[in-house]
Amino acid sequence: MKYLIYTSTRKCSRDELRDIYETSRDFNAKKNITGILLYSDKKFIQYLEGEELDLYHLFFDKISKDDRHKRVQLMSFEDHHKRYFPDWSMGEKTVTDGQIAMFDTFKEKKKKKLKDMVGIDLETQMLMDIWRD
Ligand SMILES: Cc1cc2nc3c(=O)[nH]c(=O)nc-3n(C[C@H](O)[C@H](O)[C@H](O)COP(=O)(O)O)c2cc1C
Repeated sequence: MKYLIYTSTRKCSRDELRDIYETSRDFNAKKNITGILLYSDKKFIQYLEGEELDLYHLFFDKISKDDRHKRVQLMSFEDHHKRYFPDWSMGEKTVTDGQIAMFDTFKEKKKKKLKDMVGIDLETQMLMDIWRD
């Protein structure tokens, strides 16, 4: 079991977003993939959890090639021992640019190996806090 997080720059309208949710809910439910998609006017952050191969194919074959977003940057693809969003084949939520900026700051720190000090669950925790806010 793994989780995957990426950020990207949104290049789609509200209607296109609705299409993405509908496709995602069906497909993810079939593959037992759960997670959330957070978005602002300009950005996406998506968190997905499931079996390694399913996540791999979904991300590399479909999501990363989708032209409804750009600058897709994979942040994490790590082992997980439990699901944090078991009830959501695709939860969705609008977030502020401030919340995304906070996450981007974290991403920079993580690059500098802060991750090793704080543990990988911190980023999942941050997303859960934003989700529950
Ligand atoms: C930001 C974003 C997130 C997406 N998330 C998912 C997802 O979680 N599950 C999914 O099946 N498709 C997701 N998609 C849509 C896929 O990129 C793709 O369009 C869809 O899986 C249909 O692929 P197919 O035409 O190859 O069957 C997402 C697209 C975008 C732009």
